[in-house]
Amino acid sequence: MRHLSSSRLILGCLLGLLLGASPMQAALPQAPGFLAGQHAKNGIACAECHGKGRPVKVDDNETTVNEGCVRCHGSLKEVGAKAQGHINPHVSHLGDIACTACHGGHRGSWAYCGNCHGFELKIPFPATVMKPAEAAPKPPQPASVRRRERTDVVVIGSGAAGMVAALTAHDAGAKVVVLEKQPITGGNSMLAAGGMNAAATRFQAKKGIKDSVELMVKDTMTGGKNLNELELVKILAEQSAASVEYLTELGADLSDVGRMGGASVDRTHRPQGGKAVGAHIVDVLRANAVKRKLDVRVNSRVVRLLENRQGRITGVLVQGRHRGFYRIDAKAVVLAAGGFSANPERVAHYQPTFQGMTSSNQPGATGDGLDLGAAAGGVLKDMEQIQIHPSIAAGSRILITEAVRGNGAILVNREGKRFVNEITTRDAASKATLAQPGQSAFMVFDEGVRQSLKQIDGYFHLELVKEGATPEALAAAIQVPPQALKETLDRYNQAVAAKADAEFKRPDLPRALTTPKFYAIEVKPGVHYTMGGLKISTRTEVMAKDGKPIPGFFAAGEVTGGVHGANRLGGNSISETITFGRIAGAQAAAAAHAPVKP
Ligand code: FAD
Ligand code: SIN
Repeated sequence: MRHLSSSRLILGCLLGLLLGASPMQAALPQAPGFLAGQHAKNGIACAECHGKGRPVKVDDNETTVNEGCVRCHGSLKEVGAKAQGHINPHVSHLGDIACTACHGGHRGSWAYCGNCHGFELKIPFPATVMKPAEAAPKPPQPASVRRRERTDVVVIGSGAAGMVAALTAHDAGAKVVVLEKQPITGGNSMLAAGGMNAAATRFQAKKGIKDSVELMVKDTMTGGKNLNELELVKILAEQSAASVEYLTELGADLSDVGRMGGASVDRTHRPQGGKAVGAHIVDVLRANAVKRKLDVRVNSRVVRLLENRQGRITGVLVQGRHRGFYRIDAKAVVLAAGGFSANPERVAHYQPTFQGMTSSNQPGATGDGLDLGAAAGGVLKDMEQIQIHPSIAAGSRILITEAVRGNGAILVNREGKRFVNEITTRDAASKATLAQPGQSAFMVFDEGVRQSLKQIDGYFHLELVKEGATPEALAAAIQVPPQALKETLDRYNQAVAAKADAEFKRPDLPRALTTPKFYAIEVKPGVHYTMGGLKISTRTEVMAKDGKPIPGFFAAGEVTGGVHGANRLGGNSISETITFGRIAGAQAAAAAHAPVKP
């Protein structure tokens, strides 16, 4: 690396400003508190991070800057391998993300993990406040925006629905741009834990599980209290096995099958050993996007949909972190911007009783997609249908997957007693938990359950688990009456042996809890999923108030309403994102190729 004197550095940066760098880029090495200042002190030139071309430009993905970090410090994997200590932020379920997602050259740095995890992470030149994604200031009128691009299909959001739509549209021959407002891709999809529901798959057949499309439809409708749109549910179930095959062909492993709440049979698919599904799928989708050289932009918030006089959606207005406002004209737009569980004001607006509750969601799940869609004439439905998940680790935002209960864990209250069928639907389990003393419960399991599900290791790593060599020792650790907990476990184990749970009618009793050690995690309900959203047709067209589809406008995933009715079953969302993402991608590509009616 070349070493330059500081006067040359400052000169270089001033020149950069004159030649087109943003004011932030050019304010630089003089800000000694941040990484740029430290780099300057070490004699590292602006060009080492920003590239040697003139004018100095930073793209919204911060590609050149990140390449600069890797050139000197090594890849994320290499940095992770060098790190020591209990929590290693460079090795996480977020996967291969950009250095600048956390480290800022000209602003305080902040660990992205801190959005959800409570543990303290040391980071050089920390920001004093964790900064969520910046709110867009009032956007300019599109007509006044001079920077313009053109593409076939724009996809808004880089979760599973968006990435699958983008890959599908690309593979159908369309030119695609994916826009993601956060500094990393993956959305809530990356956090998905328990798995993906699918009926009549080859993985179920291999394990001798008898399932059918009809049964998945029935379970989903019952779980959703029949508020679901039946035609959408039929597509979800009919296409679910094909969606598992689609992901498998892209390189995913969904060969492990377990059960989640409200399902009549084991149909929740996940990687072998019971690893979390979301991080794995997102890794696969990212790798496929890279392979296809897909144009995926982070730090790029869509602030408005563009439409013509006939009401056709014709593109988007984007606010890039560095580029500022620009427009992309497109023949079709797919909205896959997720739900709003991380927006407490919006949640409280629709469900005042959920005010102040924690949430399991990533910080970008604020619901701006709903505003974008509604402003373009889309109809919103079932907005008050918000799901709380019964098991968020107390005092954190970490979801303890329903799969732990599916694999055999029970819920006990502070009196050491069970109080509910643990694999009932989430609304019922949450309601029952909130009725217990302290409005929380202990999820209790043994070594057998621990060994059955790889993702449980993560909860140990995060120090969320209390343990004991016997039920009584565990009871002491969680301060519940030892005799009561022992009796509860004995009674439950008798029910497992008898294959009948007379007390709570739990339908699936996968294993007795008899293998030491015994474990417990304190859990509380938290806001998890928003069932409401934009009304769509079976072809994922966004519907307008007049009952007609809005031309050129498609939506998929959590931003839509109708698939899950009043309550979503665990595992049905990832299934929805893949199936409806595939449909939206194909429809958008077809719309892009079709001659546009004047
Ligand atoms: P997301 O994955 O949330 O992606 C939407 C993206 O759009 C986000 O990245 C967001 O930042 C971006 N965006 C928003 N607004 C804009 C804008 N204006 N411009 C640009 N980008 C924007 N479901 C299951 O089926 N199985 C599970 O095991 C499971 N586990 C879960 C565990 C957790 C902790 C959580 C939070 C959810 C879980 N879910 C699970 C639910 C499921 O993960 C989500 O509902 C699903 O992934 C949503 O996918 P999506 O593509 O619609 O949205
Ligand atoms: C979980 O794993 O408990 C969450 C699953 C889901 O939200 O579908």
